[in-house]
Amino acid sequence: MNKEFVTSEDVAQAVAYVRSQTRQQPQVGMVLGSGLSGLASAVTDAERIAFGRIPHFPVSTVEGHDGALVIGRLQGQDVLVMQGRVHFYEGYSMQQVTLPMRLMQRMGIHTVILTNAAGGINPAFHAGELMLINDHINLIGMAGQNPLRGPNDPSFGLRFPSMTRVYDAQLRALALATAARLQIPLRQGVYMCLAGPCFETPADIRFLRTIGADAVGMSTVPEAVVARHGGMRVLGISTISNMAIDDIDSEAETTHQEVLETGKLVVPRLTTLLQAILADLPAPGKPAGA
Ligand code: HPA
Repeated sequence: MNKEFVTSEDVAQAVAYVRSQTRQQPQVGMVLGSGLSGLASAVTDAERIAFGRIPHFPVSTVEGHDGALVIGRLQGQDVLVMQGRVHFYEGYSMQQVTLPMRLMQRMGIHTVILTNAAGGINPAFHAGELMLINDHINLIGMAGQNPLRGPNDPSFGLRFPSMTRVYDAQLRALALATAARLQIPLRQGVYMCLAGPCFETPADIRFLRTIGADAVGMSTVPEAVVARHGGMRVLGISTISNMAIDDIDSEAETTHQEVLETGKLVVPRLTTLLQAILADLPAPGKPAGA
């Protein structure tokens, strides 16, 4: 099941299959994380393609991650929504995990909105809040598991891409302004990606806080890296599904159930925010509202 390197031919086959199933030309990609897939039901003119039918596509094995592409219209945008995603901890390679980003790139998508459920590390945060990702720490990437490792196909992007501005400044400003207008509290912070699947120890959490993380999860960063490599604009929003535990004497315990349940509670607010952002999403190179 694990295939370390995904080739441009593999991506072309995946794209050809999706194109054979729809005539729509999506411009905006969205990835809906743990417990967040409800937004896909708001897509109109929806064409649904199960991940398992798409050549080379990784198939999710986790509860809370329904696996399908939903292509259609949302708030005036032509969207391709990934209802669920796969993770590195499931046994897929980083390039398999990020194949959907390559599919989006080759389909001509210019903007990707990534969502996830994350544990809150910043003590000011609370479970149930939303966090705009303003930067990330790619700890697994630093440890050698970077999705760009391996032969670089220059038709995808540069060998040594900059990661100075992963999360697009214009999209972040739009998200903050939209949240303020709708009176939806929106935190900002640095997202840390770990491999999982176990949750962190209290010592892990204190370490992650010390090195600058505000929230921790098991996704998003590989996708953001590949999306930037491919020249797509990235917006990232985490739902703080639980507060990460930093004290060995705590009675609390982080569970997947808690992550899914808080996800359900946050979905209406996240849905409202994402829909309003989509409605005002600028075309690349245009100011918001133009
Ligand atoms: N840690 C890691 N990943 C997560 C968490 C967490 O506390 N919550 C949701 N995803």
